[in-house]
Amino acid sequence: MLNFINQLPKAELHLHIEGTFEPELMFAIAKRNNIEIKYNSIEEIREAYNFNCLQDFLDIYYAGAAVLIHEQDFYDLTWSYLEKCAEQNVRHTEIMFDPQTHTKRGVSFETIINGISRACKNAELKLNVSSLLIMSYLRHLSEEEAFETLQESLPYKHLIKAVGLDSSEKGNPPSKFKNVFEASVKEGYIPVAHAGEEGPASYIWEALDILKIKRIDHGNNCFEDELIKEIIARDIALTVCPLSNTALKVVDDLKYHPVKRMIELGLKVTINSDDPAYFGGQVNTNYIELQKALGLTKDDLYEFAKNSFQYSLLEEDIKRERLQELELFFEDHQ
Ligand code: HPA
Ligand code: ZN
Repeated sequence: MLNFINQLPKAELHLHIEGTFEPELMFAIAKRNNIEIKYNSIEEIREAYNFNCLQDFLDIYYAGAAVLIHEQDFYDLTWSYLEKCAEQNVRHTEIMFDPQTHTKRGVSFETIINGISRACKNAELKLNVSSLLIMSYLRHLSEEEAFETLQESLPYKHLIKAVGLDSSEKGNPPSKFKNVFEASVKEGYIPVAHAGEEGPASYIWEALDILKIKRIDHGNNCFEDELIKEIIARDIALTVCPLSNTALKVVDDLKYHPVKRMIELGLKVTINSDDPAYFGGQVNTNYIELQKALGLTKDDLYEFAKNSFQYSLLEEDIKRERLQELELFFEDHQ
């Protein structure tokens, strides 16, 4: 099973680049930028990664991201993640980045996007990993600030495929971002959003009806008959993040993870790492731990991988190629 998961061609659809920041790289970049961080050792950092809720994590995540200053920092962060993709046979990844986390500190949009996208281009050539970018608005900030970010992004529109919505969910419903999502879609960005991680089912309804999203990030709180019916009718996938859910106490134990119920109800599920440096595992570890906890079969895992390509934002011809590659793998590894 371990080999099967490691070799399974897959896509990752829910990944925050700032959440891939391993303590070793964080220390190295802090040092070269002459920035003090409040931890004395890598062990001390890891000990701090003990969260009771989403906000606990976000406070530490934003503090960590504050050492990123130069284009090369964003390049190194992204490259380091893409190398891990290659090792795990992640053939395609859709990377979220939070421009406001950096522009608020005086880092330019250009610095961020150039560093990240240069690493992506290089990975396509040297690692055979494809990728695209999802610019995510921070929902604890105002819609007006999201509009400023949309404006700043326009010269780099060709480098960005989609817009997302992340950060503190409770008290920040999708409807708060109605106008900026409408404007983003007009600019050609595809809308996705975090919904139903800590927030209620009504936030998922809002994300669907008001933001018109094409994919639900997390979606744990989707268990309402009418909502399930609607998600299926619209053929929308959920980007589920098992180890994120246990780390942030969204789920008590993987044994009780709702993913099995989701599958039984006919929902389209993909498996992802969210913020792997903080939640104890890359995407393959998420597959492995979930498989062990729920006794999933190779067919279940194949279905996750298939959904990951099917519900990616790849162009149809490349999507078909990736799906064929997966199918050939599965015929050989039943
Ligand atoms: N939820 C909301 N915001 C985030 C997350 C998450 O899981 N990860 C990074 N920003
Ligand atoms: Zn997330």
